[in-house]
Amino acid sequence: MTFVKKVCTLAAAVSTVALMAAGAADAKNFKIAVGDSAGSPQEATGKFFIEALEQKSGGAHTATLFLNGQLGSEQDTVNEAAIGTLDMSLLAINNVTPFSPSVGVFTLPYVILSLEDAETLTQGPIGQELTENTLRDAGVRIIAWTYTGFRRLTNSKKPVVSVADLQDLVIRVPKNEIMIETYKSWGINPTPMAWSETFTGLQTKVVDGQDNPYMTINAMKFYEVQNHVTNLRYIFSIEPLIVSEAVFQDLSEDDQKMILEAGQEATRKSAQFLRDSEAAIKEELIAKGMEIVDPENDEAEFIQLATEGVWPQFYDSIGGVEKLNEVLAAIGRDPVQQ
Ligand code: MLT
Repeated sequence: MTFVKKVCTLAAAVSTVALMAAGAADAKNFKIAVGDSAGSPQEATGKFFIEALEQKSGGAHTATLFLNGQLGSEQDTVNEAAIGTLDMSLLAINNVTPFSPSVGVFTLPYVILSLEDAETLTQGPIGQELTENTLRDAGVRIIAWTYTGFRRLTNSKKPVVSVADLQDLVIRVPKNEIMIETYKSWGINPTPMAWSETFTGLQTKVVDGQDNPYMTINAMKFYEVQNHVTNLRYIFSIEPLIVSEAVFQDLSEDDQKMILEAGQEATRKSAQFLRDSEAAIKEELIAKGMEIVDPENDEAEFIQLATEGVWPQFYDSIGGVEKLNEVLAAIGRDPVQQ
């Protein structure tokens, strides 16, 4: 080897080592809190995000999922991310609403009536505006959306097909005013309880029932402590992946771009995951002993009580009745008459 070649080879080796050292120093392993268990749509979105992040960063960056509320209740993780002691969290939108009331428009009963509605709203200008509001109000940035399906009512006592059937049941709800008021519109006083305490609450019969999508009921093994399911469709569950803004702002522009793109990819895959899996999971719940019934009269009484009784109470917090009408127009529905 000539002297020049030797010098060039050495220089190349030195710069590779330097790059590796810089890469190792900048390498990130983000901590992601996840409220649900293995097999849930939340976990699936987390995995899709990690896969995309590793691929986009050439393996430099990754993230680790902490399932089952190991890092605290879903609402606590919003506070943790806001102050920058937690990197990211995957949680239900209803547990973000207390920190940024305008996202409550996604929790208003019977607004979102299909997965397609959920995709249109979250991925369009309304989703963008709510992401900005959440950043402003709560110090966390929504970077991906998980689509989990309609929240179905479960209980351990009896089949529920009517509002009358609900009256002697104690139902757990998240600490979310809209959901509390929805059950009140149906004539009962629900019990607000953190998600991380819900399985035990059902098991010890502190509460008789709760509502969550089929996919969540299955992943959380609620079939072990609940046997009746009512096919309510009052809320379509949407579960964002949020990142601490303090953490996000500490990243380089390239890394921020990678994170946002990985989030978009996870969102697309989440919708497909729900389309591919929900029907089979419903069958699995039946095989595991759950009895699934439809509400009588196409849910008419539930719908009328909730929309007439609950929507007007929350116009102010979601940004006015005009905001609700904007949302309804985006999914091709008639406006509320004022
Ligand atoms: C809740 O009921 O608090 C949440 O929707 C649960 C979840 O994150 O799946």
